[in-house]
Amino acid sequence: MSPISSPNPAPDAPLQLTSQAFRDVIGRFASGVTVITTHSGGKDYGTTASAVSSLTDDPPMLLICLNKSSSSAHAILESGTFAVNVLAEDHVQLAGRFASKLPDKFEGVPVEKDGNGSPLLVGALAHLVCRVSEQVEAGTHYAFLAHVEDAVANPGHPLAYFRGGFGRMRMAPEASVLRDVRERIINTVNDRDQAIDIGLWARELAVDVDLVHRALTALASEGLVRREAGRFVIAPVPESIIFESYAAKLAIELGVAESTVGKVGGEQLAQLRRHMEATLEFVEDDHFTDARAWIEANERFHEYMVELAGSKILLDTYRRLGLPGLNARTINTSTYATTELLEDHRRLVEAYENGDLAAVTAVLRLHADRPRQMRARERELAGPAGA
Ligand SMILES: Cc1cc2nc3c(=O)[nH]c(=O)nc-3n(C[C@H](O)[C@H](O)[C@H](O)COP(=O)(O)O)c2cc1C
Repeated sequence: MSPISSPNPAPDAPLQLTSQAFRDVIGRFASGVTVITTHSGGKDYGTTASAVSSLTDDPPMLLICLNKSSSSAHAILESGTFAVNVLAEDHVQLAGRFASKLPDKFEGVPVEKDGNGSPLLVGALAHLVCRVSEQVEAGTHYAFLAHVEDAVANPGHPLAYFRGGFGRMRMAPEASVLRDVRERIINTVNDRDQAIDIGLWARELAVDVDLVHRALTALASEGLVRREAGRFVIAPVPESIIFESYAAKLAIELGVAESTVGKVGGEQLAQLRRHMEATLEFVEDDHFTDARAWIEANERFHEYMVELAGSKILLDTYRRLGLPGLNARTINTSTYATTELLEDHRRLVEAYENGDLAAVTAVLRLHADRPRQMRARERELAGPAGA
């Protein structure tokens, strides 16, 4: 360790930039947040710090800047060693604690010790064990240049610091994983309010856990999932997504009608009718006897109609809308009137059998508007308090 040096004296000309203006501008340089710890004179020290930078890879070195008023800085001057604990996104409280002047910041904070005795915060995103090689005095601060003797990384996401506030860092999710995870959520029929098992989803999608986590973070801003106690929970689908999905469904079905009405054969029409009749089985007295079975039968009927167009790509696109999941998560089985739905289906098949494109189109438009009508009726039934 070399003695404190001050290689560059302050310039003679007065600076134009005020410290406040500088802080305001440099605050736009987003950083992570760390807790720098050390052990000196039989005591543990720790301070929150964002002025941490990688210096060289070979040898591995980093740089930290600590205010001369920091007791941790003085302890590092004594010990010549420190550890950098990179905080994870749920460590806002730890960051606050170690930015304070509490007499014992480590009380109740689980730690392990590195080889030099510096405390390592359990659960940190990364630990870097450092030995000071040089320290430079710069105005109000000491800059410590240090060799990194050991480094450990853990899974998770960092706590971010930007313009004086804490935040989460959003990584752009990989488009394909985002699409797959979104589709899964929309298609999840019965897991409302259940926490997502990210590890399981990652295995099933054969992708890295981090990618699933990133996708869920992005989907949380869409309102499809919400965070609860550090976990992601499937949320009720926002109305805007439901209505957009039904609008997309209608667009596909209108295109299918255009290219199939009057052109499909007798066997296909008979099959369409059979699918329609299968949906009747699960309804009695205007209510579902088995809503889930009805949703599946309903989907087979609608999908069969799309299949008539003979395009696998179109069918895949239709399936991606996740209509069974949306239905399952929006239908309120106790108030849902089914007569209109069944009547729409009947009239649709009849119009197909008559080769009447105008009638098919009219039924499809009306049918696509049913979810909105049902919602309005549910609101009406619930009265002003339920609105
Ligand atoms: C997000 C954040 C980043 C900080 N970064 C630094 C830093 O890089 N250097 C520093 O000296 N103080 C920094 N501080 C302030 C110290 O954490 C604070 O002065 C602390 O009380 C020092 O504790 P100590 O005297 O026990 O060492 C930061 C505070 C926060 C909240």
